Amino acid sequence: MPEILLKNASINGKIQNLLIKNNIIDYVGTNLPDADIEYDIRGLDVIPGMIDPHVHVRDLKQSEKEDWSSASNAALKGGITTVFDMPNTRPPTVNLQFLNAKREKAKLAKVNYKFNVAATSQNLKELAELLDTKPEDVAALKLFLAGSNSNEFVDDEEDIKQIFDLSLKYNLPVIVHTEWQKCVEEYSAKVQNPTVSDHNFMRNSECSVKGTDLLISLAKEIGNKLYLAHISTAEEIDIIKANKEKCRVFCEVTPHHLLINEEILKTAGNFGKVNPPLRTEKDNKRIMQGIIEGTVDTIGTDHAPHLLSEKLKEYSQAPSGFPGLETALPLLINEVNKGSFDLKKLIEITSFNTAKIFNLKNRGQIKEGYFADLTVIDMNKTWKIEAKNFKTKAKYSPYEGMSGKGDVVMTFVNGELRFENNR
Ligand code: DOR
Ligand code: ZN
Repeated sequence: MPEILLKNASINGKIQNLLIKNNIIDYVGTNLPDADIEYDIRGLDVIPGMIDPHVHVRDLKQSEKEDWSSASNAALKGGITTVFDMPNTRPPTVNLQFLNAKREKAKLAKVNYKFNVAATSQNLKELAELLDTKPEDVAALKLFLAGSNSNEFVDDEEDIKQIFDLSLKYNLPVIVHTEWQKCVEEYSAKVQNPTVSDHNFMRNSECSVKGTDLLISLAKEIGNKLYLAHISTAEEIDIIKANKEKCRVFCEVTPHHLLINEEILKTAGNFGKVNPPLRTEKDNKRIMQGIIEGTVDTIGTDHAPHLLSEKLKEYSQAPSGFPGLETALPLLINEVNKGSFDLKKLIEITSFNTAKIFNLKNRGQIKEGYFADLTVIDMNKTWKIEAKNFKTKAKYSPYEGMSGKGDVVMTFVNGELRFENNR
């Protein structure tokens, strides 16, 4: 592998040179070591590549929606160097056989990856067998408390406890979609002929809060690592804040629950249909405060590609979810430019904390000896979101037409330049 020198890079606010040797960050500092290839990147910042623990790569029987190649290209363009794949696929990642099928497909990946495996009421024995193989490519268990493009949800407290026991025994975090199914059903029954503007009412914020409350009380009892995915409400941020010191609870938010709310559905329609739903401006503000105060640990994109033709169906037929790999970092860097939080905080929530929570060794920091997963960003490059230019197969977005400042210009994975944007 050629040795690569990134010259005059802004790293942690200081102008430094960074040498990559054999996949690894070999040197960071003011010396100028020799290298085979040099990039003078004066004026640009280097941050650790984003680690995204929440990606629906699909593939297998849904490769028309996305596959490992298209998802990788989208991730690279978005400055994301590691993805964790979600298990609600066809077939779902519920046992070793289906995990092995996925492992075959993932050989096409151009980014680092791990798998989140599903924990359901039916698969606990098979799950234990899978975990007994000590798979190094499994990041976490994933548990849905409500149906969301899959029927593999768990709504029984005893089952949840058993899953938490497994999480503790195998020392793997359990990632949970917190919406509580019965509550979603109750609220949904109250609306006749719903449209997308009813989505936030039907999958009511109360249902997310209910799930989060229960999960935290169980995690306190069992002591496992609980990772709450895509937290969407102000109340949940408050509950998590109040319990952070009392149990091992971690909080992920998506860029969309942070930056947009149900107002956008007037123009975005089903392109903004997602679970948990886009909430309100009050929730956006509390989530932002949660980032600043440290209640929020990580950003997950919840990249959830579906066919455009499916998203164009009427509300009740259209699937939930939209692509997020290519828009996450630009949207967040734009927030840094707006002064919402600083670059250090962005690094914390997009890589540093994520690597710590999921025990990713030697990733998530720019440090000698660490893997050279690096994202070069231009704080001044402006952008406009046009879904037709996306690398993902899902070419639509609730952010269509939105513009901002601060973009990804180069992405290195294990020391290899895998994406370069014409600057
Ligand atoms: O909107 C969503 N889409 N939420 C989920 O939890 C699942 C995801 C999907 O798989 O499409
Ligand atoms: Zn998801």
